[in-house]
Amino acid sequence: TTVRIIGAPTDYGANRRGVDMGPSAIRYGGLADQLASAGVGVVDAGDLAVPRAEERDPDADAPSAGKAKFLRETADVCRRLADEVSGTLADGAVPLALGGDHSIAIGSLAGSARDADVGAVWFDAHADLNTPSTTPSGNVHGMPLAAALGLDEFAGSEWANAPGLSPENVALVGLRSVDESEVEVLRERGFAAYTMSDIDERGITEVTEEAMATAGDGVDGVHVSLDLDWLDPNEAPGVGTPVRGGVTYREAHSAMEIVDDADSLQSMELVEVNPTLDQHNETAELATELAASAFGKRVLW
Ligand code: ARG
Ligand code: MN
Ligand code: MN
Ligand code: MN
Repeated sequence: TTVRIIGAPTDYGANRRGVDMGPSAIRYGGLADQLASAGVGVVDAGDLAVPRAEERDPDADAPSAGKAKFLRETADVCRRLADEVSGTLADGAVPLALGGDHSIAIGSLAGSARDADVGAVWFDAHADLNTPSTTPSGNVHGMPLAAALGLDEFAGSEWANAPGLSPENVALVGLRSVDESEVEVLRERGFAAYTMSDIDERGITEVTEEAMATAGDGVDGVHVSLDLDWLDPNEAPGVGTPVRGGVTYREAHSAMEIVDDADSLQSMELVEVNPTLDQHNETAELATELAASAFGKRVLW
């Protein structure tokens, strides 16, 4: 296996500025070495060129797009990321995208599901199922899963929809901050959704096994989206939207080992690392360790 790292240093989707420094912090945190210690080959494709948010008008697209800040800029980055991801897969490598805020998942999913049927596992405190009409914040990082699935205003979107992503192959793990509108979507669409209390009751291994099985059922591969706010803020302080009561360090590693065990990982992203809110880069370092576990790193063989 060769992993190809693609940085997407955006903060268009989040209102806590600084998440655009994530790709740099994750590389400094030792990503290449961690992946090498997992026994995979590593190629770094560098970062996509992303204009500063300060140069742009957040509401440029507002009349047509409803309440979604920097939607035009997000679309531009996601189109280019989708091309990188699909090109990486065509070369037989595994794309690992580094955010940036979670809006970049729209691009990774569109690219990963361009020429393949894929499932998705969403490791996150949040459901990210808002749309421009339901968003409480206007932040697109709360919308990527809805965008990829073509919900509401995203229906038929040329850049946002992930063609080969099947709703029945979507699983969310670690939920503990879900908006009313998102609860409705989860209920109606019947996505496999695991809250922290499911993890408390059933354990992280069983929940993650089930999530990977659901996501991987009958498709070519699984996209794993890892929002670092999935972890408890004690373990991962460097995120813009921390929520108490997240998974522990050990649960997170255990889950990533199960991701590897499922043998279906097609593409992955690490998002929402915000170095300006971090302590000694520990959240970025944690992201590198978790990636290594997902790509097969073990203490023994
Ligand atoms: N649900 C909230 C919103 O729509 C928070 C989303 C947080 N998403 C994230 N990727 N951190 O604004
Ligand atoms: Mn989140
Ligand atoms: Mn998220
Ligand atoms: Mn493996």
